[in-house]
Amino acid sequence: MGYQSIDVAPLAGAMGAEIHGVDLASELTNQQFDEIHQAHLDYLTIVFRDQKLTPPQQADFARRFGTLEIYPFLKGIEGAPEVVELIKTEVDTENFGGVWHSDTTYQEKPVMGSMLYAHEVPDAGGDTLYANMYLAYESLSDGLKELLDGLKAHNNSAQLYRGGRAKKMEKLAGMKDQYNTESDVLEALHPVVRTHPETGRKALYVNRSHTERFENMTAEESTPLLHYLCDHSIRPEFTCRVKWEPGTLAFWDNRCTQHFAINDYPGKRRRMHRVIIEGDTPH
Ligand code: SIN
Repeated sequence: MGYQSIDVAPLAGAMGAEIHGVDLASELTNQQFDEIHQAHLDYLTIVFRDQKLTPPQQADFARRFGTLEIYPFLKGIEGAPEVVELIKTEVDTENFGGVWHSDTTYQEKPVMGSMLYAHEVPDAGGDTLYANMYLAYESLSDGLKELLDGLKAHNNSAQLYRGGRAKKMEKLAGMKDQYNTESDVLEALHPVVRTHPETGRKALYVNRSHTERFENMTAEESTPLLHYLCDHSIRPEFTCRVKWEPGTLAFWDNRCTQHFAINDYPGKRRRMHRVIIEGDTPH
């Protein structure tokens, strides 16, 4: 579609666009909102620069797209419980989100979208990579598509952090106090290929961080094909890269993307605020 009320500048051939000409702290017109929504469907990850957003303003913008969800593993910030702070301090060696994944695929209804807003970022490093799962699916052979179309896979919140999520979070000096120790391991069975409820396109829906094994198969049996699919999903020609500045907000569609927070800024600080928006049961 042509955009009249916003400027849209693609970030890469596969996906991603910067949106200019809009102040997210102000009341959006219906046309602006509709075009932003369309850009989100067209480009999968949209990026806004130079925004000045308080946590409640970030939450209000996200609420235009659906009901906000409380992230089960981190406490929200004071006064805005839906907003969590993702922070890597000068002394941390690990980061949050440094494995390719789509958010909360271990839930029955994984989150539709995530909005990340940058407060403090290193001069260089700390970019986030995104990958287009429509392209990952569409580029498979017909034979493999046919096999995958009937498969489901188990997704698990402990998968990434073997030895326990809490243990991993404890390594993040800036975040360990936010960890919600009452949360259990979450598990969900989802189709390996899902159909996007708004675009009708098929997307590959397994990821290295949370997908454990195929339904009715052991982990050992599943691993070779899962590894192949996870490697295939993140081929460079399916990706875009977002470089953050203070005031950048990125909004991605977890139904058809994966992302990866690059951990390449030792001794530097990065502080972001994230909100997540409810999704539906994948089909
Ligand atoms: C996330 O995985 O949600 C965090 C991504 C990032 O910090 O870049």
